[in-house]
Amino acid sequence: MDPLAVELNAKIAAENPLALELLSELGKRMYFPSKGILSQSAEAKTLGKRFNASIGTALEAGQAMHLDCVMRQLDDFNANEALLYAPSQGIAELRQSWRQKNLHDNPDLQGVPCSLPIVTNGLSGALSVAADLFVNPGDSLLMANMNWDNYHLNFGVRCQAKLEFYNYFEGQGLDLQASREALQKHQAGEKLVVILNFPNNPSGYTATEEEGEALAQALLQSAERGLNLVVLVDDAYFGLFFDSALMQQSMFSKLAGKHPRLLAIKADAATKEVYVWGLRVGFISFSIGGVSENSPLFAALEAKAAGIVRSTISNCSILSQKIINQALQDPGFYAQRQAKAALMKTRALKVKEVLANNPDWQEHFEAYPFSSGYFMCLRLKKIDAESLRLHLLQKYQAGTISITASDLRIAFSCLEEHEIPELFKTIYLACQDLD
Ligand SMILES: Cc1ncc(COP(=O)(O)O)c(C=O)c1O
Repeated sequence: MDPLAVELNAKIAAENPLALELLSELGKRMYFPSKGILSQSAEAKTLGKRFNASIGTALEAGQAMHLDCVMRQLDDFNANEALLYAPSQGIAELRQSWRQKNLHDNPDLQGVPCSLPIVTNGLSGALSVAADLFVNPGDSLLMANMNWDNYHLNFGVRCQAKLEFYNYFEGQGLDLQASREALQKHQAGEKLVVILNFPNNPSGYTATEEEGEALAQALLQSAERGLNLVVLVDDAYFGLFFDSALMQQSMFSKLAGKHPRLLAIKADAATKEVYVWGLRVGFISFSIGGVSENSPLFAALEAKAAGIVRSTISNCSILSQKIINQALQDPGFYAQRQAKAALMKTRALKVKEVLANNPDWQEHFEAYPFSSGYFMCLRLKKIDAESLRLHLLQKYQAGTISITASDLRIAFSCLEEHEIPELFKTIYLACQDLD
């Protein structure tokens, strides 16, 4: 093992030996190359004032060399800002401003020991960094039976975790008993990775404050009886909460810094929070109980996460990072974000209204509970979801997603309010065609 990895592991173990045990074999071996090309070029940047012939970029007249046909498109940026490499950790200002945004949105995190975010290639990048750092082949990974299909590819196919599922809904709320029982199957001393995702893809459900509290208590009690937990909170659709009874802060706030056997990971992204899907800016942050705010454990985990970024994609787009950083500094940011969330809410409420006004449609489908995010799911009673999806496309030119044989996902986020009644009526007609 590289001495730098040994050093990071020693820092982690000195602060919390269990945190070291939670790392995968790759996670234990990983380090950020603080000696070598990166550190030498950083030294050259500060000390090589006469000549800096250190890094693999090209310069001209003190600026990043560039083509006019490129820079012409980027009026608000100079060539250095737009075109040079970003650090593997992400640009420092953005890491700070995203953390400030998270504190603004999650006041319960004030004063809670937590790492600075590392910038990843979208939230998918954060999930794959987490998988690389914490999942060995054969490790158990628990998630709800309503989940984003990419978890299977990342954690199951790529990292060979043993995927376990618990039932998500009971009536109009969460099946908390199912999640408790799934945790109880694991003995003291075992390691378990858990994924939580609110607002949920595909259902559009977010736990109520009471449900969130109960889920957090179940996890903390599991840690208390000796389970070693990595809890990965996927906050992709954070902030799109359309009902005041729902949790208004991330589940991460209920878990961060709460127990020495529970490492909480916040995976979030500008992707949906800032409406910039293709810019690919995501973040991963860590917290664990029993350590102080500036614990060297956090710097060590940040170095390991940055090592994964360095060894896979090297770094994320500097232009995207600058755009997000400037948007976060803009005095209009929170008001603009709020206006878009309000617009999304009108769509979710329209779906509810249309379903409530058409009780006869229940012959064919009912909605799973939903009040947040981008999606809602229909539970089909007679028709196979994939057959319905194909029929909707072929006869009605209407695109939906079949999630399972019984579940059809509708992204109301993509529909104008006035389109919603027609789409749902069309789904009903298509069910009747196939019945
Ligand atoms: C639950 C969930 N997590 C993560 C992601 C990935 O987001 P990104 O586009 O930032 O990689 C998505 C995107 O669809 C998602 O639905």
